[in-house]
Amino acid sequence: MHYPVPPLTQLDSWQHFADAAVQASVQLDSVRCIRAAGLHADFSGQVYSPELEAAAKTLLADRQFEQQRDVLLGGGISNVTEGRAAWHTALRAPAAPKDEITTERERLNAFIRTADIARRWRNIVHIGIGGSDWGVRLSVSAFGYCKQWRTVRFVANIDGHAIAGALSDLNPMDTLIVVASKSFTTVETLENASRALEWLKAADVPDPYSNVVAITARPDRAQEWGIPEHNIFSFWDWVGGRFSLWSAVNLTTAMAVSSDVVAGMLAGAAAMDKHFAEAPIEQNIPVQMALAGVVNRSVLGYGSLNVAPYDFRLGHLVSYIQQLEMESLGKSVDLNGEFVTVPTGPAVWGMPGTDAQHTFFQWLHQGSDGAPVDFIVCQHADHSWPTHHQTLLAHCLAQREAMLRGKSYEQALQECLSGGLEAEEASWLAKHRVHKGGRPNTLIVLPHLTPYSLGALLAAYEHKVFVQGLIWGINPFDQWGVEYGKKLAAGILGELQRPSVEATHHDASTTYWVEQFRQADSRD
Ligand code: F6P
Repeated sequence: MHYPVPPLTQLDSWQHFADAAVQASVQLDSVRCIRAAGLHADFSGQVYSPELEAAAKTLLADRQFEQQRDVLLGGGISNVTEGRAAWHTALRAPAAPKDEITTERERLNAFIRTADIARRWRNIVHIGIGGSDWGVRLSVSAFGYCKQWRTVRFVANIDGHAIAGALSDLNPMDTLIVVASKSFTTVETLENASRALEWLKAADVPDPYSNVVAITARPDRAQEWGIPEHNIFSFWDWVGGRFSLWSAVNLTTAMAVSSDVVAGMLAGAAAMDKHFAEAPIEQNIPVQMALAGVVNRSVLGYGSLNVAPYDFRLGHLVSYIQQLEMESLGKSVDLNGEFVTVPTGPAVWGMPGTDAQHTFFQWLHQGSDGAPVDFIVCQHADHSWPTHHQTLLAHCLAQREAMLRGKSYEQALQECLSGGLEAEEASWLAKHRVHKGGRPNTLIVLPHLTPYSLGALLAAYEHKVFVQGLIWGINPFDQWGVEYGKKLAAGILGELQRPSVEATHHDASTTYWVEQFRQADSRD
């Protein structure tokens, strides 16, 4: 099938947009802030001009933004290379558009209620990877950082140390193994789940499979694996793996912290969906995030985006956004099958502030590349030490201001001279203190870290990714590159396990290492 998406750089509207972006600048004397779904998103640190704003509207119209948004939110086929919808918004719609969503949620809530009433499952081991892991880790650490009556451990990596560490010290009789996998074929998840099952069996748990719950879009495979039907919670093909937090995948958060947390996240995300669906382009948070991202990546040439949550509880947000953006936008072929001739999805990286300041912010300030930064902070803290929070806020604003305003040679020189340095030394040292400034950033302020505000924040990033995919003309909902690696790994595993299988079809280095690892194995 052929999809008639005009190559981006052949659009006049793209040329106008790119030209306007080059001419635009950061406006230090005005505030460009949008408030929606309980969030404030301050875009003052991104380049702006009325011409850029107008050009963005034409570009989005050329990309049929409104029609495509309707397709996405209405459950049409947005994921064209896999011929499916990407209807994660249906999972959080106040009135679920499909009966199975309500039925499954009720089943899940009943399971949690029964467990809570019986004070059952003191321990939960959540096994899943990628989209079946990051969002759950994030919500558990965001809201369970203080107290959880259940012990929760996460296992994603195939490295056996991960599952060994997770199971250690737990009482198998009262441990629930949650196996989250959309496909129920992911090797890491299934191997780890097998180790957990063996551990239950070794402890003589009477009916070990009853200690295992599956969350999957392939209940048939989970059942084949041995999990009883009543312990299987479904989601569907039309929910992408990295968008599945809104499904039963978040069971672990509900059990570890509370079902109210999950309900609050769904409500916040739904509020952001509504805003995305209804707000005009210039007042639309996800759209403005996307436009800033496209300017920074495809016009100004920044290769990465730094995510800096100034909130200890949001440590996993970086990985969550990293998977969301990089797995979605790490593509360079458009829907026609042609190479996109501008750089697409940036690398995403980061760490919570203020740790990040003492780790890599120097590079952001004065390195030769630099990167745009998304600063994310809560206006109010949930602890009782105001000085801590004021200091955190001060650092966040200060880092951002330094990146925005920079420091001229004259300012630096003046500083050195008033510090008592001789003129010659002052002029030498001042050069080291110059800060170019003008480094783009967005500041996102949450009133408090609540399930509602976190839900809204995550949904904003999801829609940002959709809009960027639309502008670049790429499909943000598939991941063929990862699939390719998985296939190769299965072949190599076979070669490692069965030395009789010839491993000659690789490149020379891979063949060499397959041989080496085989020998290492036989020596053990
Ligand atoms: O990394 C590829 C991927 O398919 C992700 O999209 C997904 O979140 C992850 O693997 C796990 O897949 P599954 O939920 O099917 O186990």
